[in-house]
Amino acid sequence: MDIEEASLCEVEASAWSELEKGALSPESSFRQVTLCSVDASLRPQARMIVLRKADRRGRLLEFHTDIRSRKWSEIESNACVTVLGFCSRTRLQLRLKGTATLHGPFSEQAEEAWTKLSEWTRRTYTGGPPGDPLGSDTQVHMATSGDTTGKAVFGILTFQVETLDWFMLERDNNRRAEFIYNDIGVLVSCRSINP
Ligand SMILES: Cc1cc2nc3c(=O)[nH]c(=O)nc-3n(C[C@H](O)[C@H](O)[C@H](O)COP(=O)(O)O)c2cc1C
Repeated sequence: MDIEEASLCEVEASAWSELEKGALSPESSFRQVTLCSVDASLRPQARMIVLRKADRRGRLLEFHTDIRSRKWSEIESNACVTVLGFCSRTRLQLRLKGTATLHGPFSEQAEEAWTKLSEWTRRTYTGGPPGDPLGSDTQVHMATSGDTTGKAVFGILTFQVETLDWFMLERDNNRRAEFIYNDIGVLVSCRSINP
């Protein structure tokens, strides 16, 4: 391994440390990231989402969402997603491209995550379908599903990262590097690129 490759490996490891901190600490800038998907009209869609887990070994991220939200059906039709994060203190941008997998209500992943949610967070899943007019059919949904806790609409989105675009904004020396992983998250190539 040459020096360039060794320092790129450190850069990559530090990026995953930031993501792991994001998943653990509400104070981290990577606690909330932007999740981008593509809708049925092939328009890009973006929204903030809380990073719930980052696994540097498998290069996996995990998010929680309501399965009635638009992102869920968008990703059902097209699993290609991008996640974007930025820390204004370190001026580090991370752009991750990859493939999402959906784990619906009562799946093993959803069950495990649900047990760890606070009552307050659980309550955020008891309203009407996200994006529908306020007050439209909360009661209908709750009556038909027989569920009053929100568990019946709670889903997990896991994201297998395929490329990481690392960008450090520095006054006179912006730096950028690209990392490519295989489908089980093993780093297969890395290189510095022009910012
Ligand atoms: C800081 C912040 C964090 C958010 N976290 C989540 C989240 O973890 N899961 C989620 O589904 N929506 C979250 N939202 C709401 C989404 O940004 C979005 O408005 C909502 O999920 C509907 O998106 P969609 O219609 O594209 O599916 C968050 C919003 C903000 C501002």
